[in-house]
Amino acid sequence: MSEKINLCIVGLGRAGRFHLQAIKKLDSCSLKYVVDPGIAENDELVSSNNFTLLSEITPALSDTQLNGVIVSAPTQFHYEIICRALQAGKHVFTEKPLGKTATEIKTCFDLAKEKGLSLYLGFQRRYDTNFIALKKSLETIGQVRTIKMSSRDNPKPSLDYLKISGNIFHDMLIHDFDMLQFLLGDKVPVAVSAFGHAYDPEIKKIPDFDTVLVTLKFDDGLICAIDTSRIAEYGYDQRIELFAEKGMAIAENQKNNTVEVHTKKGSFLTPINYSFPTRYKDAYSAEIADFVAAIPKENSVNVSKRQCLIGHLIAQAAYNSAITNSVIDFKKEYAGIIDD
Ligand SMILES: NC(=O)c1ccc[n+]([C@@H]2O[C@H](COP(=O)([O-])OP(=O)(O)OC[C@H]3O[C@@H](n4cnc5c(N)ncnc54)[C@H](O)[C@@H]3O)[C@@H](O)[C@H]2O)c1
Repeated sequence: MSEKINLCIVGLGRAGRFHLQAIKKLDSCSLKYVVDPGIAENDELVSSNNFTLLSEITPALSDTQLNGVIVSAPTQFHYEIICRALQAGKHVFTEKPLGKTATEIKTCFDLAKEKGLSLYLGFQRRYDTNFIALKKSLETIGQVRTIKMSSRDNPKPSLDYLKISGNIFHDMLIHDFDMLQFLLGDKVPVAVSAFGHAYDPEIKKIPDFDTVLVTLKFDDGLICAIDTSRIAEYGYDQRIELFAEKGMAIAENQKNNTVEVHTKKGSFLTPINYSFPTRYKDAYSAEIADFVAAIPKENSVNVSKRQCLIGHLIAQAAYNSAITNSVIDFKKEYAGIIDD
């Protein structure tokens, strides 16, 4: 291993750009390559940074000095890029979702293990200080009885992005299903149900939903409700409430500042953060720092294979429920795939 940890970003769009900023903050590593067929040599990002721009990943993978690959290309390419990078002996950090099927997820984790390489997932909410504190509250509030999550995006992603995102369950709610795993451990629901609607005619045409409510029931009695929307006009809305045996814990939205103005006309608060790059700025940096720190240790994960699979299968069950208007018996349909 050379003195610095050398990294390659594959896909320099919205996600790739915040990974680039995260790498620049770390003295221990250097961004050696960016692979992106859609970026031109004269792009300002290329001239203002010291990396080699490639339109295809092969030259980067054959560089023995390259240690890790960060996959932030569109979702449909994740699996192939992850497999190629692991086969070439590179540690991998990938944006969500890792794969399109349970088999793809299992193959990636098994390959990383076989090669002794790290496989990290871009579930940045696990690195958010609010949600870390929320998890800590579980030591005080006792057994959780209901969970309410709101997870509403802003602004609406581009139609081009939405068309290739998979669907709202695998692209967006996957973060919330992962948050359940983060908070509660490898918790497998007994039943999953979901309703969805598309208010936006362009999203309806894809076809996908832009507004969804998912409920999950667990065998210890826990009931969880997650509402999500592709558009929340008032800002990026991410809240969680845990109602438990001995108390309640709430993670609220972050505001741009804490000033409140009170006049005869009423009380005014500053808006909540506009979008995810602001809300999770520090978390995006923390997840890349965690990945880089794990590289010398080899075969590390930040999300276990089992938790990744459970999250994926809940997304699948919720999708099936919403399109069939039925409650999914999760254990009957999916437990075998997790334990296989
Ligand atoms: N964790 C998060 O909060 C978060 C936020 C946004 C996006 N994402 C994930 O990041 C991924 C990318 O989303 P985005 O919003 O950045 O998309 P984007 O459209 O903004 O960027 C994708 C980039 O990848 C490039 N690209 C296309 N095909 C490629 C290929 N074969 N190899 C390399 N690069 C290629 C495009 O030219 C573009 O620059 C998605 O999988 C998405 O789920 C995660």
